Amino acid sequence: SMLTAYDQFSAQAFEAADIEVLLVGDSVGTTVLGYDSTTSTTHQDMLTFTGAVARSVSRPLVVADLAFGTYEAGPAEALRHGVELVRAGAGAVKLEGGAEVAPQVRSLVQAGIPVFGHLGFTPQSVNSLSGHRVQGRDEAGAQKLREDALALQEAGVAAVVLELVPAAVAASVTAALEVPTIGIGAGPDCDGQVLVWQDMAGLSGFRGKFVKTYAELRAQLEQAAGQYRAEVSARAYPGPEHSFE
Ligand code: KIV
Repeated sequence: SMLTAYDQFSAQAFEAADIEVLLVGDSVGTTVLGYDSTTSTTHQDMLTFTGAVARSVSRPLVVADLAFGTYEAGPAEALRHGVELVRAGAGAVKLEGGAEVAPQVRSLVQAGIPVFGHLGFTPQSVNSLSGHRVQGRDEAGAQKLREDALALQEAGVAAVVLELVPAAVAASVTAALEVPTIGIGAGPDCDGQVLVWQDMAGLSGFRGKFVKTYAELRAQLEQAAGQYRAEVSARAYPGPEHSFE
């Protein structure tokens, strides 16, 4: 199981829950930093949040996203930015795309950096994919997904994230690969699953079809803040038990 993590306390909670892989996703831009799209997340953002998570946990594998614009130009750029993420504490890096990024994957793997691929809906390409859409619905799209997954495996990826892919297509990609697939909106037959933690825990309010909400943190937080405000207004907080002699 894999969850996103961007900060100390959430990362430590997920480690205590035995989550095996923490993804410092470029979704930090849209879940923490207030950007509209992950295309705005910078390499410096990724270094900052990767460091925060890596310093906070010891057991989970920390995977960090290569930000938009840090690997598309070629293997040398990918390697330079991948090395910086490893220096910040990442145990592996993730990048989006298929056969076209195989040279980047090779250069990272040759340098000893484990790489996760990411296929299907790839958020950094949201502008060319016409929004958040399920990918690989027709046979040509499904075939391209399988070919891209095999090209990534051939280049040396350790795993492939499949995002917003029909369950049957994700199952066929998973069967075709020796490396594990990790699904998000890709059905039950992937080898693992990943969710953005604020969606899973009911903090973001995003309730997409593929998200199961395991807690209602937004409602709890609103309730707690409201009660705090009421008690401050009524001078009921702080009480004697919160005050020094
Ligand atoms: O950045 C992210 O959160 C991701 C997941 C959606 C897999 O890449």
